[in-house]
Amino acid sequence: MQEKKINSKPIGIFDSGFGGLTVMAAITKLMPKENLIYFGDTAHVPYGTKSKKIVTDFSEKISKFLVANDVKMIVIACNTASAFSLDYLKKIINVPIIGVIKAGSVLSAKITKNKKIGVIGTEGTVKSSAYENEIKKYDKTIKCFSKACPLFVPLVEEGWQDGKITQDIIKVYLKDLINKKIDTIILGCTHYPLLKKTIRKVIGKNINIVDSASAVALQVEELLKEKDMLKKNGKGKYKFFVSDGPEKFKAIGNKFLGNKISKVTKKSL
Ligand code: DGL
Repeated sequence: MQEKKINSKPIGIFDSGFGGLTVMAAITKLMPKENLIYFGDTAHVPYGTKSKKIVTDFSEKISKFLVANDVKMIVIACNTASAFSLDYLKKIINVPIIGVIKAGSVLSAKITKNKKIGVIGTEGTVKSSAYENEIKKYDKTIKCFSKACPLFVPLVEEGWQDGKITQDIIKVYLKDLINKKIDTIILGCTHYPLLKKTIRKVIGKNINIVDSASAVALQVEELLKEKDMLKKNGKGKYKFFVSDGPEKFKAIGNKFLGNKISKVTKKSL
């Protein structure tokens, strides 16, 4: 089948660091033919503790870099950047752009039975109420309970995904949500899917865990299908850019993506 020129253009994905590779992994699994460009803003990570203004400035620079690299759409893989800057970026960027908040919100609103949803994320994401606002658009009667879990990101970065200490920390953070009798919890941060098994141990098997990465991949596929921009032939090629520490990114990133990263280019913005 003849490929239209736009279809073989890459999808741009960005995050504050390597956490967004969870979203990239979900996209490559669902759409292995797509070309992708990933940008990790490793010089400025973490975004979760920074102001809306500064995160939006970083996000704008990265989006413009991706557009200059001829992407056909942009996925903001970072929850904090999605919460703070999606609305603004939609106004100034001339390719379709989506964040990670909507997909996880819609999915959890669909599956909750008792209409009590817990949202965990960075300080920035929780303060923004972005998940809650999105869920309320879908169903006003749903009650959301949010909790910032600032220690989760460094735990994952250290590779402490399981073990007693991590389990105890998760217990402390999630105690209030469990007491509220939530039946669904949204992992509203790029790093949290890596803690999923340990979170499951702590919360038991009766609470649904919504990991927005796979929900976002489905949303990307839907959008590309709708615009007739899906790449139909060949295997996808991947390019990686970071604003600092390409070697470290490559080492950690390969654990995430199963050795798919051969080259990482440093790019200061
Ligand atoms: N990527 C961020 C998020 O999903 C987590 C790491 C950070 O704070 O930058 O919110």
